Amino acid sequence: MEVSAPLGFDPADPGFLADPYPELARLRESARVFHDEGWGRWFVTRHEDVRSCLRDKRLGRNFRHVMTPEEIGVPPLDPRWQSFWQTERWSLLWLEPPDHTRIRKLVAAAFTPRSVESLREPSAELARELLEPLAEAGEMELLYDYAQPYSIAVICRMLGVPLDRHRDLLDWSHRMVKMYEFDVPLEAAEAANRAAAEFTEYVQELIRERRARPRDDMVTALVEAEVDGARLSDDEIVSTVIVLLNAGHEATVNTLGNGMLAFARHPDQWRRIVDGDVPPAGAVEEMIRFDPPLQLFERWVLADDVAVGDAAIPRGNKIAMLFGSANRDPRVFERPHEFDVGREDAAQHIGFGGGIHVCIGAPLARIELEASVEALRSLWPDFALVEEPRRTGAFVIWGLERLKLARG
Ligand code: HEM
Repeated sequence: MEVSAPLGFDPADPGFLADPYPELARLRESARVFHDEGWGRWFVTRHEDVRSCLRDKRLGRNFRHVMTPEEIGVPPLDPRWQSFWQTERWSLLWLEPPDHTRIRKLVAAAFTPRSVESLREPSAELARELLEPLAEAGEMELLYDYAQPYSIAVICRMLGVPLDRHRDLLDWSHRMVKMYEFDVPLEAAEAANRAAAEFTEYVQELIRERRARPRDDMVTALVEAEVDGARLSDDEIVSTVIVLLNAGHEATVNTLGNGMLAFARHPDQWRRIVDGDVPPAGAVEEMIRFDPPLQLFERWVLADDVAVGDAAIPRGNKIAMLFGSANRDPRVFERPHEFDVGREDAAQHIGFGGGIHVCIGAPLARIELEASVEALRSLWPDFALVEEPRRTGAFVIWGLERLKLARG
């Protein structure tokens, strides 16, 4: 049996949050899967198992299409957070087939290689536009001054959402994603619910406008789309727009923060980028592998015969797949704890997931990240940390509170 001694970890522990990788390595080398009583979940630690769980049809992001909460002893969704649950109700991230297949097909139609590729040039221009004045000023807080306005502008452009309320969009999103952490304090849940209500109202207004005056954008496409003769409901469109806006910048912004911190700590690797020895595209894969912006994703066990290694995992249980641990698995990556932008195995990382929920925005994220690294390499060839950055305190959505950089 793999799980002889009880293993566990505390994702809220400041020591763990300062650098989770030694602890994740200890867990990974002790067991490929373990059950944590406190968190009521099974944790999967190794690359091979995370990869196969992501593709396993007996596991689902949701269970409500096949089981009731009572059947598996899960408390009902807290009715106080109704606005939040309503935005999640039709989110791709919460759906399973056939609803997932139906809505994903519509969204995929907008993310064709050609339409995403058409954003490459504008993304590169925008990166320079934002970074040039910051380079002149000589100092910036990478996330607030650059990564957030940059990434939200790119996804808004793709969707056809006006940019005038971009700080509201960021604020709603930041409050809502706190609901993905393990332990959500009451005030955080209240704030997430209020954000969801405001965000919903905003998107409903946008839908009314596009219905009255259609444009060549994705919101209009969702309003007009038909699958098997049926249109999407307004609730489905609201959830879809919100998940695209939120997923479309949170992870990209945190990849830039985590990645540029890795460069600040490994100036020899930054030199390889600045000198043109390694193209930005290679660096992007290593940034995601080395310190991924999403540390875990979960699945419900929907069938009776599921096992990871020797551990049988009962139907109705929850599995958490540790991406950060899988990305440092020595069974797949040579010298896994080394940040090496030239490594050939970087693209094996699990950062974008896999299976039916694999990140639909990955090609866009890669374009944005490459354009950012390219602009930074030419405009900020030398930089240093102004202060020791602090983590946000959250583990699942893994990022920095601030990253202040000064130009050398
Ligand atoms: C570096 C940046 C990004 C990372 C690391 C990332 C990572 C992920 C991962 C791991 C998943 C799968 C979740 C699961 O299996 O449960 C996912 C799903 C998703 N991502 Fe991304 N993402 C990034 C950027 C983006 C962007 C730019 C967009 C939007 C344009 C986006 C939109 C989505 C959507 C809509 C889903 C849900 C897909 C589904 O459930 O079918 N992501 N992402």
